[in-house]
Amino acid sequence: MEKNYTQLILTELEQNGEIPDTLLLAKKFEIEHQELVGYLNSLLLENYITQEVKEIQRWVLLQEGLDNVTNGTPEFRVFQGIPAEGISKNDLEAKFDPNVFKFGLQNGMKKKWFKIKDGLIQKEVAEVVDEDAVLLKRIESNSNLEDIKKDVFDNLKKRKIISQEVIKYFKINKGAEFKPIYVELESDLTYDMVKNYDDFVKNEDGTIKSNTELAKQFKKYNWNSVGKDIKTGNLHPLMKVRKQFREVLIEMGFEEMATNQYVESGFWNFDALFQPQQHPARDAHDTFFIREPAHSKNLDPEYWERVKKTHEVGGYGSIGYRYDWSYDEAKKNIFRTHTTAVSSKMLRQIAIEYAKDGVFKPRKFFSIDRVFRNESLDATHLAEFHQIEGVIADKNVGLGELLGVITEFFAKIGITGLKFKPTYNPYTEPSLEIHGFHPGLNKVIELGNSGVFRPEMLRPMGLPEDIQVLGWGLGLERPTMIQYKFKNIRDLLGYGVDMKLLKENPICCFKN
Ligand code: PHE
Repeated sequence: MEKNYTQLILTELEQNGEIPDTLLLAKKFEIEHQELVGYLNSLLLENYITQEVKEIQRWVLLQEGLDNVTNGTPEFRVFQGIPAEGISKNDLEAKFDPNVFKFGLQNGMKKKWFKIKDGLIQKEVAEVVDEDAVLLKRIESNSNLEDIKKDVFDNLKKRKIISQEVIKYFKINKGAEFKPIYVELESDLTYDMVKNYDDFVKNEDGTIKSNTELAKQFKKYNWNSVGKDIKTGNLHPLMKVRKQFREVLIEMGFEEMATNQYVESGFWNFDALFQPQQHPARDAHDTFFIREPAHSKNLDPEYWERVKKTHEVGGYGSIGYRYDWSYDEAKKNIFRTHTTAVSSKMLRQIAIEYAKDGVFKPRKFFSIDRVFRNESLDATHLAEFHQIEGVIADKNVGLGELLGVITEFFAKIGITGLKFKPTYNPYTEPSLEIHGFHPGLNKVIELGNSGVFRPEMLRPMGLPEDIQVLGWGLGLERPTMIQYKFKNIRDLLGYGVDMKLLKENPICCFKN
């Protein structure tokens, strides 16, 4: 039958008045100390006992030490393997593990237990005492070690045979509710306990007062017990950081755009953005093209016509790129290379609504989703990654507002001291790279790209002249890698990712 350790602890206390050392008690009960602590904790909770934390430094035998105690030191084992008439080195070696033989031979000869004579290994003494194993056994007992010199310990420690551990244990005394016999408390209220309704004390109106006798029989809740590890789904770090960014943008009044379309026509990804068709980014080296279906339809012919004309000869104060714009090129299906493809479609939608209603409503949008680029892969680049993009369409906004909103956005994720550098995008003018001091990395890094969208993009869409559109974009992977201390992007995204990562990484938080 299983032993009732709870009762055994109480009996021990009743007999001796106290339990001075729970380590010794665990040994006496022949159970692990941790298991004993479990029984003690429930007695503690029910105030049967009180406990005092104690600490001792103890020597413990490491693997090799334990091996020496159970099987003898290597030299002892080798000695035992030598017959009275001697043995060849090869025959002796065959009896042992290579390491045991190597050290056993060395140490045994040093101790003059055996020697090599006439090509044979021969005993020098008839009997030996395995003193080192005896010593280790003494050390393991941790008692009466005063005569052992410090350098003996140091040497054994250095050879990783023993090590010193700080061990916590408890001194146990009787508590306020101590009883020599343990009274098992109930943990569930059952029908049998309450079926006799008349036993209960009632209020005037017939409702039941709490039954104090019954309540006493119940186990107290242990509010400190650790919950079970529940097997649930877990968010990927990228999704956690995406959530943070989403919250920041929503807080700033931005609406999320629908981004659930990875395949886009070249038109929305490039042409609508006034990106010329011979631009190197439209090359198969940078963009993934879709084989089936290879082309999209032109569902907005008038608008496409205006885009064609703007590319070819300009308009709205521009001279255009002066080449023959191809419908076929614009129709080619690709994996979107940036989330600005989503923004361009949305801006055209706003222009259509404006044409219908005749009123312009200022709008702020954002998107956070996957984009694709046909790039060579390395520790910081993948062929697919995520972009975060914010877009503002309003009257009388310009560079000042753009710098202001970007500064506010990055401040909300803990990055200040931004620097802006002029750059070039086909669809924005001016265009600015965003750089900032990252406290986690303790240096200035490039954070993203931004600009004021060009009239050559907005006017063909049908947006009125006094409307400006501002935008900025950044990658999701880089902040996530910084936040979660990833060195290699392939540990974060792709088939090489360890599923354990999802379970074990902390909930992301930008703000403290
Ligand atoms: N599309 C740009 C990129 O991929 C970011 C950007 C968005 C720039 C909006 C300007 C305006 O880097």
